Amino acid sequence: MARDLISVRDLDRSRIASLLSRAERIDGMPREDQVDLAPGRVLATLFFEPSTRTRLSFQAAMQRLGGSTIALQEEASSLAKGETVYDTGTVVAEYGDVVVVRSPHEGTARLLAENTDVPVINGGDGANQHPTQTLLDLYTIRQEQGGIDGLSVGMLGDLKYGRTVHSLVHALALFDDVTVRCIAPDAIRLPEEIRDAVDLDIVETDELDIADLDVLYATRIQEERFPDRESYEAVKDAYVLDRDAVRSMRDDASLLHPLPRVGEIDPAVDDLPQARYFAQAGNGVPVRMALVSDLLGVDA
Ligand code: NCD
Repeated sequence: MARDLISVRDLDRSRIASLLSRAERIDGMPREDQVDLAPGRVLATLFFEPSTRTRLSFQAAMQRLGGSTIALQEEASSLAKGETVYDTGTVVAEYGDVVVVRSPHEGTARLLAENTDVPVINGGDGANQHPTQTLLDLYTIRQEQGGIDGLSVGMLGDLKYGRTVHSLVHALALFDDVTVRCIAPDAIRLPEEIRDAVDLDIVETDELDIADLDVLYATRIQEERFPDRESYEAVKDAYVLDRDAVRSMRDDASLLHPLPRVGEIDPAVDDLPQARYFAQAGNGVPVRMALVSDLLGVDA
């Protein structure tokens, strides 16, 4: 049985702590030592949805570990001939030592993991889960705020369809005394089944009430997951974080975003001290180096 990362629900606090510490250790190593961690190993990316950060940071991570990467190009693959995602995935798992899969459908990564011997990493499945994003979110929060226990975290935007939100909420419930303020229009609030599944102090509002937060996690309205154009249009401009809004936050608060942003954070905010989303994206590399090397069974 391979070790996989499919859902944050499969992680506990000590596993998260050990992956984050490993990321810190690897990040502190000289580059010439990092490339000794996985020489000759191959990471395959199997992405059936657009991706910039997840795909490229996994590729960068594997190359910095001394390994190499192969990537499925959907439009040039046999999917275009009618091959199933399952068959394609099963074959790709024969070529790579570890596979990262992203799919518009919930459960694709799990299905592949159950039927292959190599480690499978979920790079996002529909509106369900995005566990590696959560690891880098937690790594960033820890780095920026000195820890996670006791924090007051705001989640803003598309809490219904945003898989990064769903994974992060599950993870925050593993820490002590975290309070979460869900800020969203009614139509895209956090699904009740997630709210009910976690042991977390959650307050819901549609007011942009952010002045006292330690962390504000803003998200894109997930246009591609709405059932129709009208329901998307009704909420698409619900919140725009401009300079005045962000300056109302404490100077030592962190404004995070998984990116891409499409209007919900004004670029004029980028030079404010709270704006940490680009550094957050950068953390994807050490965190994914830690995860990949761990799943490959490498000591680091
Ligand atoms: C996110 C995703 O794919 O869920 N992107 C990412 O991996 N950083 C967020 C999004 O698409 O809005």
